[in-house]
Amino acid sequence: MPRPTAYSRLQIILHWLVVILIIGAFLLSDQMDDWEDMPADAPLPLHGILGLTVFFLMLARLALRLLRGAPPPPADDPAWQQRVAEFTHWALYTLAIATPWSGGFAFYLRWEEAADVHELLKTLLLLTAAAHTAAALYHQFILKDGLLARMGLRRP
Ligand code: HEM
Ligand code: HEM
Repeated sequence: MPRPTAYSRLQIILHWLVVILIIGAFLLSDQMDDWEDMPADAPLPLHGILGLTVFFLMLARLALRLLRGAPPPPADDPAWQQRVAEFTHWALYTLAIATPWSGGFAFYLRWEEAADVHELLKTLLLLTAAAHTAAALYHQFILKDGLLARMGLRRP
């Protein structure tokens, strides 16, 4: 896989856009409380629109990741931490792509089991993103290695 020296501007914009959309989908999840009572041809609530947008943007990110690659991990990180970070990043791709599918299957196919899977996947996504965020903040504020600059957050 290619190893550029930094994430591209597009990779950085898509990273933060997806973060905002996922937070939005969580904040608006109440909209889906009575989804089983919605008519089959009801318009998709904003929760679902944000979630579907996450799906398409994550496909674009995945394509960029495979074609353009990502910079090598911070050299000072022990090998095991580099492996955990690598695994976490692929888990985030997988979960952020699979969660919208399960929601879509539940909503459009009235599929009860898909709704259960959706609840499980959104919990895994939340936990993985929380661990990922904690690791980023640990780098930035404990190790003080300026890691957030890799995702475009630099002190002015
Ligand atoms: C990354 C994208 C998404 C996230 C993070 C997300 C997150 C959530 C959350 C937190 C809930 C509340 C679950 C609960 O009450 O315990 C929920 C419910 C639901 N979402 Fe999503 N969602 C996403 C995408 C979608 C999409 C694309 C659709 C439909 C096209 C959808 C349809 C639903 C439905 C039908 C429910 C109700 C499930 C139930 O009550 O068991 N979601 N979602
Ligand atoms: C919904 C929440 C999030 C998701 C789904 C997510 C997803 C991802 C993914 C998949 C990567 C790997 C990119 C690649 O190499 O292809 C990544 C990298 C990164 N993320 Fe996030 N992220 C989230 C939230 C955050 C937050 C809140 C922060 C900061 C506090 C953050 C900081 C970073 C940084 C600094 C990198 C670059 C890591 C490196 O290569 O050293 N992310 N993120």
